[in-house]
Amino acid sequence: MTEHLRNPDDEHIPVMAKEALDLLRCKPGGVYVDATVGLGGHSLAILERIQPGGLLVGIDRDKESLEKAQARLKPFADSVRLFHDNFKNLPLILNNLATKPVDGILLDLGVSSYQLLSQERGFSFQSDAVLDMRMDRTQQWNAADLVNNLPESELAGIIYRYGEERLSRRIAAAIVHERAKGPITRCAQLASIITRLFKVRQQGIHPATRTFQALRIAVNEELEGMEEFLSEAFGFLKPGGRIVVIAFHSLEDRIVKRTFRKLAGQCVCDAPSELCRCPRQILAHLITPRPITPRPEELAVNPRARSARLRSLERI
Ligand SMILES: C[S@@+](CC[C@H](N)C(=O)[O-])C[C@H]1O[C@@H](n2cnc3c(N)ncnc32)[C@H](O)[C@@H]1O
Repeated sequence: MTEHLRNPDDEHIPVMAKEALDLLRCKPGGVYVDATVGLGGHSLAILERIQPGGLLVGIDRDKESLEKAQARLKPFADSVRLFHDNFKNLPLILNNLATKPVDGILLDLGVSSYQLLSQERGFSFQSDAVLDMRMDRTQQWNAADLVNNLPESELAGIIYRYGEERLSRRIAAAIVHERAKGPITRCAQLASIITRLFKVRQQGIHPATRTFQALRIAVNEELEGMEEFLSEAFGFLKPGGRIVVIAFHSLEDRIVKRTFRKLAGQCVCDAPSELCRCPRQILAHLITPRPITPRPEELAVNPRARSARLRSLERI
């Protein structure tokens, strides 16, 4: 069965849940944040462990997902506060809630299977949906706006940087050539423009995979301000509190790795040691000096987890 024919509502297996929960060490009465609630898989597991007296602050920028999560988490309604927002506003939310310092923060980044498999959301090159890709459908611009309006060089830059696509310039040129004839509005239309450029089918992945990833990251500004956000969120942890981040592509994971190392007082620059200006202030312990990857048993039931990389940091 192709991915887009599956029912998105059936897809809510939380990725690396056992590892994430073990690392968060959820305890009754604790305060936790799930900054990417999605359909609430991880949130539910956290809520089960923090009774009685615990609080979960949950955020997602996708209103539809959050509504589904809200229904799922109803048995714990008294212990959860959900917010439709960008997690970059977590500091504002926590300050306004005036909670005590937080015991743990979870980020399970990227898009959910629910979003990816929902035809009308336009994330998949396998669907003929409108080229949308917004996680937050109240946002003003979508993927079609970028594809039809960005200058060619900017488009090529996005495809190269966020998709790590070697053919970025050729793809951008082909897009600009096609859009001169009329707007590119559908996923399948864009996928076919890209596919035509690849003479040999690449092993394993569809030729449009990298370009679609790049556009999704650009539309949702997924990497912008991530380092600042992680450092700021870390500041809300109590001593001994932990942050756990699950990333799904190397660009995202690189930012997490760098930020965690910095907070743990390690050098993150390329300068010779005599010229290093890294702060070297030890504010945290790296719980995972190397990222944890999914166990084979998990991959057997949830292949979508294959690119997951989990990292955790503990505040001193
Ligand atoms: C991989 S899914 C999370 C799945 C969830 N852990 C579960 O068990 O169902 C990622 C979720 O994060 C949300 N998301 C991604 N970036 C976000 C951001 N900057 N602010 C808020 N939510 C975000 C997406 O809308 C998506 O629902």
